[in-house]
Amino acid sequence: MRIFVAGGAGFIGSVLVPHLLEAGHEVTALDRFYFGPTLKAAEARFGDRLRILRDDIRTFDTEAALAGIEAVVDLAGISNDPSCDLEAHLTESINIGGGKRLAAAARRAGVRRYVYTSSCSVYGHGAGLGLTESSPRNPVSLYARAKCEVEDYAMQLGRESEGAFETVALRLATVFGVSPRMRFDLAVNVMTKNAYVNRKVSIEGGGKQWRPFVHVLDVARAMHIAATAESSRCAGRVFNVGSDENNVQIAQLAYRVRDAVPSTELVTVGTDPDLRDYNVRFDVIRETLGYQTTRTIDDGIQEVLEALRSGKVDPDDRRGYTLRQYVFLREAELAAQSLAIGGHILGEP
Ligand SMILES: NC(=O)c1ccc[n+]([C@@H]2O[C@H](COP(=O)([O-])OP(=O)(O)OC[C@H]3O[C@@H](n4cnc5c(N)ncnc54)[C@H](O)[C@@H]3O)[C@@H](O)[C@H]2O)c1
Repeated sequence: MRIFVAGGAGFIGSVLVPHLLEAGHEVTALDRFYFGPTLKAAEARFGDRLRILRDDIRTFDTEAALAGIEAVVDLAGISNDPSCDLEAHLTESINIGGGKRLAAAARRAGVRRYVYTSSCSVYGHGAGLGLTESSPRNPVSLYARAKCEVEDYAMQLGRESEGAFETVALRLATVFGVSPRMRFDLAVNVMTKNAYVNRKVSIEGGGKQWRPFVHVLDVARAMHIAATAESSRCAGRVFNVGSDENNVQIAQLAYRVRDAVPSTELVTVGTDPDLRDYNVRFDVIRETLGYQTTRTIDDGIQEVLEALRSGKVDPDDRRGYTLRQYVFLREAELAAQSLAIGGHILGEP
């Protein structure tokens, strides 16, 4: 199958792309590569079966890029709350404008299956435990509101197409694990890193808030299934992606990290209560698509520890911190606008 992955160089994308290639698909990965050349190994390994487009979801030539594509997975965008709050208009143009543009272009191009990456954070401050796909959404951030808006838009496009354009929305739990584009701003990863580097883990937002987690490779597996499963099982459907056992309260997560890195000090930080509090159920994806996760939170903690110990990941690399990297890129852009002559700042104009 020919699959187009927008945001294919990101934390999830750079695991998904090789996963799809290994399964025999041809993949086109579009990305701005804001976090570095994370698809180099996949390029070397899979040659022509991987086509890379270094381009922007808001402006790329959709007709040329989507010709012959059978499934689209959209992962592109600014990927956490604080980075989305940096410049609201950029989030609106990339996450909402770019997401809708890609969905509409995919439909026009005759793509059959469209998989949108949403988030369990659409449940926001969830009422009670065990939220399902039909529980009310209650987004408490611009990031999550953008997810709701594009989810609705894509689903509507699917309904209007009368079966020609099959849309699937995946509401991911918070992801963990190691990827070529490492993320140390996700709870399991950051707590493990802080325990390893500083022997100290902060519990923020009170610690009682629930959060579901899922390993990055299990996300790639869910996306592969959503892109290829028979229509009757997934067209027009929304699925939570994760597993019931991987719902934990943030303080419990900190205890598990301390179990893995003894002598770690836990510090409860007196911050405002975290508004994101959701405990989610995952029976629909299990029963409809036969999907089960394969990695536990403890597996993820061990994996991240091993990557830190072996030097496979560098905890000091700015690109592992989404907000820091976007702040850096924004400052670089402002500096270029005010200082560059002929495209150069220090180089000879
Ligand atoms: N990681 C999680 O815990 C999680 C949970 C739920 C949902 N999601 C969603 O999954 C998707 C991928 O998340 P991730 O963790 O891989 O984040 P990420 O930041 O690593 O990946 C996003 C990718 O999009 C690219 N991008 C940003 N703006 C772009 C633009 N204008 N044009 C083209 N490419 C652009 C970035 O370069 C990056 O490679 C995001 O939509 C995110 O909101 C992630």
